[in-house]
Parts: sequence; structure tokens; C-alpha cells
Amino acid sequence: MANITFTSPSMSRDKTVYAVAGHNGTLLAVAQKEGIKIPFDCQDGECGSCVCEVKLLEPGKQQKAHHLTDKEKEILVSLGKISKAEIEAAEVGDIPPKYRLACQFIVRDEDILVSFSGESGVT
Ligand code: FES
Repeated sequence: MANITFTSPSMSRDKTVYAVAGHNGTLLAVAQKEGIKIPFDCQDGECGSCVCEVKLLEPGKQQKAHHLTDKEKEILVSLGKISKAEIEAAEVGDIPPKYRLACQFIVRDEDILVSFSGESGVT
């Protein structure tokens, strides 16, 4: 079970939802199911519209591998939201990157805070 808190200037207040890891698919799918309007377009990791800041809320918890698809890496680099060092830290050291694409991020068993601006491709 994961607690996902969404926050955005485009929302009247923060919203926390409970998601079962592995059953809800992507962060964007969870948001859509809950009526949370993260901007999106392609839903396939190619446009960058759904970029969000994702923060782990359980600092003491054992971190897990952070898999980024090649498309997600490419788009985050092109948006200036991730460096090669951060990609390596995610893949080798399990250090979560600050920004993710909601349509590529698979919800896992961890509590997170998701921030988005409400504007397409802007965090
Ligand atoms: Fe296009 Fe996520 S909706 S990258």
C-alpha cells in the first residue's frame, strides 16, 4: 500500500490517495482515476507534458531500484530535469531522481509527494 499525496497550485488543496502497488499502473493512471489533473498528451513518455517532482516521504526506508525507461531519460534530459550523474545514481545507487514522467512512473509500495504546476511540461 502506498500513500500518494498530490500537490499543485492548480488544486484547491492537497489530496492523498491510497494505491496498491502493482495494481494501479502508472502515477498518471492513479491521478486520472482520482480526478487529479496532471497535464498529459502522449501518455507514452515522448512529450514531457506530465513531468512531476516526486519526493519519497519515508527517508529511513530501504530504497529500491529506480527504473527509468530510455524514453523517460531522454525526455527528462531534454527538459533539463535530470543529469547523467542523476541517472547513474538512480540506476546504480537506487537514489531516486527528483523529477519523473507521471506516465512512466510505476507506483510502488512507498509513500510519495507528487508536485506539479498544472502547466504542461512545467514543474
Ligand atoms: Fe507525454 Fe507523459 S504524457 S511524456
